[in-house]
Amino acid sequence: MDPRIREDFPILKREVNGYPLIYFDNAATTQKPRQVIEAVRDFYMTLNANVHRGIHYLSREASELYEKAHETLAKFINAEFEEIMFSSNTTDAINTVAWGWALRNLKEGDKIVTTVMEHHSNMLPWRAVAEIRGAKVAYVDVDEDGIPLMDEMEAKIDGSTKIVAISGMSNVTGAIPDVKDVIRLAHENGAVALVDGAQMVPHMPVDVKKLDVDFLAFSGHKMLGPTGTGVLYCRKELLEEMFPAKPGGGTIRDVTLEGQEWAPSPWKYEGGTPNIAGGIGLAEAANYLMKVGMDEVRRHEKELTARGLKLLSEIGNVILYGPRDVEKRGGILAFNVEGMDPHMVGALLDSKGIAVRTGLHCAHPLHRRLGAPDGTVRASFYLYNTVEEVEKLAEELRSIKSVACC
Ligand SMILES: Cc1ncc(COP(=O)(O)O)c(C=O)c1O
Repeated sequence: MDPRIREDFPILKREVNGYPLIYFDNAATTQKPRQVIEAVRDFYMTLNANVHRGIHYLSREASELYEKAHETLAKFINAEFEEIMFSSNTTDAINTVAWGWALRNLKEGDKIVTTVMEHHSNMLPWRAVAEIRGAKVAYVDVDEDGIPLMDEMEAKIDGSTKIVAISGMSNVTGAIPDVKDVIRLAHENGAVALVDGAQMVPHMPVDVKKLDVDFLAFSGHKMLGPTGTGVLYCRKELLEEMFPAKPGGGTIRDVTLEGQEWAPSPWKYEGGTPNIAGGIGLAEAANYLMKVGMDEVRRHEKELTARGLKLLSEIGNVILYGPRDVEKRGGILAFNVEGMDPHMVGALLDSKGIAVRTGLHCAHPLHRRLGAPDGTVRASFYLYNTVEEVEKLAEELRSIKSVACC
């Protein structure tokens, strides 16, 4: 990775607790480059107006930019304009499908298939609609590395399955399941497939046409974009079947007391005043990533992960979770220091300026399954992290280990 990239991220210059900041909490949210910060600021400084609601100059220009932002995100994942709906995050995008599609299409006895690996945001919405509809949720177990078992997947996806919902990359182990195969199984059984792309889309090239996915949800704030931004991709053919989960202002062409004519997609699904500045900032983030190249982002993270896996496994007393093969995982290292509470490890790292996440990372069932019911420490990487930072993490863990041993 070109080291000049770090110059674009003002926050990386700051110190924390007297040490240069090492930001390893990218799976929670990423830092923002100057280009994104300036796009948001410029919007408020020079253009602020509501979209699709005014004929005055500012409103027209804001609408144009906001629409262009949708085009940019469509390009980012090789989708069509009308297939891209802006949301406030991945959770919101998945709920749009749960309440807009699943609630209307599920009936008693139907099945939703998901996995033990999922973030709660790709688990709880399905449970909620299943409960209302009398449908079942089936969970595919994972192997010791946290990868969903494909033979169990094959057995559980059957004719009663209406939706298969799976994450493209675990936010705990970084495990990358074969989602293309899962999508194929779903389609062979007449089900639709949703991929939770919160950790996948920011970190590797994603092409919705090649994946043949029906729904793809991801967060803008995990890919250099502003907080409060996300995207739901919905395959064109399914748009007509989906009901707006948030009907209201902006979603219609006409309303009478007897009914309404919906606006075309994506506006039908973006009820109320959207996060306009956020959407424009998100497009800037997508442009930034496309300029760097998603292949390069993936390559860089594999390099950091390989280094981290090697150094941490050499420490002894550090328990690592997830696959050892970097081809099967993303840039996320979950671990524990034997005999130490993960929060204590996190606090010690924080005292040296290293920001990691500790706890259960909104994936309680997976932690139980991995034998880590008290949680893990998670270091997650992005394009601005360096091998030297990974080495610093290992160095600090070595000294923590000696504290734990005494
Ligand atoms: C795999 C996965 N799915 C869903 C989410 C939820 O994302 P958000 O908080 O942006 O809705 C996360 C967040 O960490 C995640 O890692």
